[in-house]
Amino acid sequence: MESHEPQSCDVVVSEGRLEGGNGHYQKLYDDLTGLYSDAAAFARLIEERRGTVAYEVTTYTPGKKVSDLIMGVTRMAPGKVGDEYFLTRGHIHANGDRPEIYYGQSGRGIMQLESPEGETRLIEVKPQSICYVPPFWIHRSVNTGSEDLVMMFVYPADSGQDYGIIERSGGLRVRIVDDGMGGWTDVPNPGWRPRSDAEIARIYEDAGAAT
Ligand SMILES: [Fe+2]
Repeated sequence: MESHEPQSCDVVVSEGRLEGGNGHYQKLYDDLTGLYSDAAAFARLIEERRGTVAYEVTTYTPGKKVSDLIMGVTRMAPGKVGDEYFLTRGHIHANGDRPEIYYGQSGRGIMQLESPEGETRLIEVKPQSICYVPPFWIHRSVNTGSEDLVMMFVYPADSGQDYGIIERSGGLRVRIVDDGMGGWTDVPNPGWRPRSDAEIARIYEDAGAAT
């Protein structure tokens, strides 16, 4: 049986990163074309922030099996595109029956969840709150605060990420926007299209089959 050495990493909350890991990726604002409803506001944002980081992830991955856990830290800058709060692209796990845990470290935000059938759940994230993302829920995070949203996360190492599921349905069913009073509210996304029965069936049938 393959075994790994125990590993200790530090969550550097003020910088929103994991120290001592072995993985890192960044998303630039330029990479987020098509995510937001207000295209003109997004174009203005790109003019201001071309080449700068919208969010980044640092991870420790011990191995790639279901019995391995990936742990890491995600950091997303605050801001809005028009009245829509900054968000991550979001995904469903390619092995859909794999869950995930997010643990708030700093800032305020929303874990936006959507089931294959189109149900929405909006879970507020703040320091010391833990959000459990059950199997088969699409998930993305939204920064509704005025500072970096930093969360620690853990998920099975063979989960995989299907980012296309959100594109294929024209986005998620609701958007998280400024309520005009310094808070947030959700509004319907008119571009959202329900997933077909065939696609929903495929999500459940493929669970555990992706590599
Ligand atoms: Fe995930």
